[in-house]
Amino acid sequence: MVRIGTSLPSRERYHGVLNAPHRAFLRSIGLTDLEIGKPLVAISVAWSEAGPCNIHTMTLSAYVKEGVRGGGGTPLAFPAMVVNDNIGMGSEGMRYSLVSRDLIADMIEAQFMAHAFDALVGIAGCDKTEPGTIMAMARINRPSIYLYAGSAEPGFYNGRKVTIEDIHEAVGAYLKGKISEEQLLELEKAVHPTYGTCAGLFTANTMASISEALGISLPGSASPVATSAKRIWYARESGAAVMRLLELGIKPRDILKYEAFENAIAVLMAMGGSTNAVLHLLAIAYEAGVKLELDDFERISRKVPLIVNMRPGGEYTMMDLDEVGGVPLVMKKLLEAGLIHGDALTVTGKTVKENLESYRYPNVPHDHIVRSVSNPFKKSGGIVILKGSLAPEGAVIKVAATNITRFEGSARVYDGEDEAFKGIESGEVKEGDVVVIRYEGPKGGPGMPEMLRVTAAIVGAGLEKVAMVTDGRFSGATRGPMVGHVSPEAAVGGPIAVVENGDKIIIDVENRRLDLAVPEDEVKRRLKNWSPRPPRYRSGLLAKYASLVSQASKGAVVLPIGI
Ligand code: FES
Repeated sequence: MVRIGTSLPSRERYHGVLNAPHRAFLRSIGLTDLEIGKPLVAISVAWSEAGPCNIHTMTLSAYVKEGVRGGGGTPLAFPAMVVNDNIGMGSEGMRYSLVSRDLIADMIEAQFMAHAFDALVGIAGCDKTEPGTIMAMARINRPSIYLYAGSAEPGFYNGRKVTIEDIHEAVGAYLKGKISEEQLLELEKAVHPTYGTCAGLFTANTMASISEALGISLPGSASPVATSAKRIWYARESGAAVMRLLELGIKPRDILKYEAFENAIAVLMAMGGSTNAVLHLLAIAYEAGVKLELDDFERISRKVPLIVNMRPGGEYTMMDLDEVGGVPLVMKKLLEAGLIHGDALTVTGKTVKENLESYRYPNVPHDHIVRSVSNPFKKSGGIVILKGSLAPEGAVIKVAATNITRFEGSARVYDGEDEAFKGIESGEVKEGDVVVIRYEGPKGGPGMPEMLRVTAAIVGAGLEKVAMVTDGRFSGATRGPMVGHVSPEAAVGGPIAVVENGDKIIIDVENRRLDLAVPEDEVKRRLKNWSPRPPRYRSGLLAKYASLVSQASKGAVVLPIGI
């Protein structure tokens, strides 16, 4: 049992004669004097039985409680919400996805602060639950540790490994008559065979990997699948570790320093993770009071090569990565090459270097999944930041998921995702087109819905020479020459608002450019004649969100007015 000092929020709220009313409620939930006298540890549990990603998190919380009790604390769990992206995808539901990230942070902050907890273990799985939970940790700045719920196992169909992006692309293939309805149904049944998050290196697994790189979760905790017994061990150990953090007085902002974000970006680039991580790291940095910018991603992307071979750009899943050594193996390669900070502090109370030195790596061949920096899969990082006349404040392309480094094409413009999907379905989109999908940004969407339905339809339809540019987002499962997060977005009068059908668009990855090849005067003339569209929503959550959210280049963080 650890020795904890007396300056705990719970002591002020629940100890002493005058706090009898507060204590009465702890007694009424069955706590004894001994338990009330111990540090109160919150376990925020992003839980929902409406999808596979977070259905098992309550079970994990029971194991976390064992670890907390063993370390001398009193654990109490509360829920956080979940939006399952794969279920919202391609519908109005997807507008709530990014919105839910900030909502989760708010929910955890409110419950934690209102009840005067001393420390936090945050359990999350699906895409937005992870950054939402870590944002809350940075915000409340009490000893905290993050526990990932774990990904699903991959499925098998016709002898080949399949994950959720296969079914999205199969819909495109079905629409083009390439596969039958029966084949589509068989794949649907095979694609996600267990509970847990999406199995490839999509957003959930990317953010889990990044949580290790940030130092906010235990080394090796990102990669074991949800069904693995290792999850139970990590749950118990996370409960014990948060008690050690409380004893040492280590808080999230002691860990989430600028160097930790540089480490996280390096891991993102080396692994070729989801473009969503750019938004989420900017948002976590904002909550931690760290000045992080798109240029930091660009700088690190130039020096960190792609050394990991994972879906959707590559071949392997999180389960495969776990078998060869998980995220610590990736970080070890980066540390050996001097590409991450070894002296950054982590939730073990030790540095990144100390963690990596004591980690037990399986002695198995791993070059097919993780290579050394001197022998990479690609020379530069998995994500590249583009700027230019079409995106003056920046845009993001995932080069890990495409071999195309330059694309010139004619704009095929759609005001919204639905129109674009119909354009592909009807055959309106042709080889050589750049599909522009606008009014889907943070304010315009609102919530930057992900365009997986459209990108998967392009891939599924076999349109190999079609690119996409949008002020919305991509799913982590997207592959192909797709540019997202175009800032400023159309809804606030960014240049993307005045692109016309047939305009030439140039995506130039080598030179980090995204340009509209239209004379500047003409763009200015069009912008002068442009007027904002009426908001899509006038009441409710989405209307509130649209009025407060910042641009993608700033992490699409919800900002209070006038502060
Ligand atoms: Fe939850 Fe993919 S939809 S992780």
